[in-house]
This record gives sequence, structure tokens and C-alpha cells, in this order.
Amino acid sequence: MKAVVITTAGGPEVLQLQQVNDPEIKDDEILIKVEATALNRADTFQRNGSYPPPKGASPYLGLECSGTIQAVGKDVSRWKVGDQVCALLNGGGYAEKVAVHGGHVLPIPPGVSLKDAAGLPEVACTVWSTVFMMSRLSAGETFLVHGGSSGIGTFAIQIAKNKGATVLVTAGSEEKLAFCKKLGADVCINYKREDFVARAKEETGGKGWSSH
Ligand SMILES: NC(=O)c1ccc[n+]([C@@H]2O[C@H](COP(=O)([O-])OP(=O)(O)OC[C@H]3O[C@@H](n4cnc5c(N)ncnc54)[C@H](OP(=O)(O)O)[C@@H]3O)[C@@H](O)[C@H]2O)c1
Repeated sequence: MKAVVITTAGGPEVLQLQQVNDPEIKDDEILIKVEATALNRADTFQRNGSYPPPKGASPYLGLECSGTIQAVGKDVSRWKVGDQVCALLNGGGYAEKVAVHGGHVLPIPPGVSLKDAAGLPEVACTVWSTVFMMSRLSAGETFLVHGGSSGIGTFAIQIAKNKGATVLVTAGSEEKLAFCKKLGADVCINYKREDFVARAKEETGGKGWSSH
């Protein structure tokens, strides 16, 4: 297969498309024929040599991807050959094929193209694990999102609104705040012009940003 190889630590010019060996799957993994991948900041750190992949992970860039399942390990029951999926990877998305643990794979949400779904797993897993699994945000609570127009922020606003929370956001410009508003944010605060702590208290009857 072809993969984008980091030939030496450095800028984007060190990346080269090369012929490499196909990945082999373990019993608990699936093989995805990659449709699309994404660019995360961590990819740029890996490329410049300051963020090496974990031991045993693919040496190629790419922390998430979408595509079609081409092979399934014998211990994987949820997925079958031909399924269209997206996946959270520990590397290897910048290649024609990637092996990934069956538990790190998600279906393509209805209404999202296979290509666009490549950019979902990183934000979805990050927001879901921190906001809902750890912090247990629930309907009726108030939720403050800093960097509302960021990758994480835009996902967090939408899913928190969907779960019935009131969403306060901060961002550094009116344009960014207008975008957050369009995504459903209830209160939009320009932290460069306003004291966000005072405004958040004002908006929540003096309690701050949590209803606990
Ligand atoms: N994206 C992911 O999937 C992912 C996964 C795991 C962890 N993370 C972490 O989550 C954080 C946010 O990631 P992201 O992908 O959502 O980031 P992003 O889209 O690049 O947005 C970063 C936001 O931070 C704010 N900011 C404040 N000071 C900044 C500065 N000096 N330079 C640049 N931005 C500045 C900016 O909004 P304002 O103008 O509103 O200040 C900007 O919109 C990062 O720490 C990242 O490492 C991200």
C-alpha cells in the first residue's frame, strides 16, 4: 500500500508518499480501507519529532480516519467486511489501509458523509469522555465552553445542547461568537471585552456555571 512517511523530523516538506507493507491485523482488530483522514495538532508534533507514536503503534501519521472494512479479526463480532466506519487510531490514518482495535471503531452517523466522518472520532471521544463520562453533564445543567469556536468547542456546544444543557461559551471575536450562536450556544461571551466570570455569574443567578 501507499502511506505518507515521515522521512526525517521537520516541516511538511519531510513527508513523502511511499510504497510500504500492508498492516497485518490481530484477532481483536479490523482492517480499514481508508477513505479519508484528518489533521490534528498532534500530527504536526509527531512530524517534527516531538511526539513519537506509542510503542507498537503505526509509524505513520493519522489519529482518525473513515473508510470501509476490508478484513475482520476472529475475535471481533460487531463489524463485518463492507461496513462503512470511522475510527480512533493510535496512528496510521495517512495510508491506504490501517489496522485498528474493533472497540475503537464507530458507525457513520446518518447524514454525515463518509469523508466528513473522518474528522469525528477525535473530538467525539474527547468531548464524550471528559464532559459526559467524567463530568456527567446532564439536562438542566449549565455548561461553560472556553474556545467555543474550536474543534472541541463546536462539537461540545452541539452535543451539550442536544442533551438539554444550557451552554455558555467564550471566544476571542464577534465572528467566532456568531458561529457558536448558530450552533446553539445560549450565552456568547467575548472574553477580550468582558469579564467572563462576572457574566457567567450574572447569567446563572450568581451560582457560576454549574447547577450542582
Ligand atoms: N481536536 C481534538 O480532537 C482534540 C483531542 C484531544 C485533545 N485536544 C485538545 O483540546 C484543545 C482544543 O483543541 P482544538 O482542536 O479544539 O483546538 P483549535 O480548534 O485549534 O482551537 C483552539 C482555540 O483556542 C483558543 N485560543 C486561545 N489562545 C490561543 C492561542 N494562543 N493560540 C491559538 N488558539 C488559542 C482559540 O479560540 P479563542 O479565539 O476563542 O480564544 C481557538 O479557537 C487543545 O488543547 C487540544 O490539544 C483536542
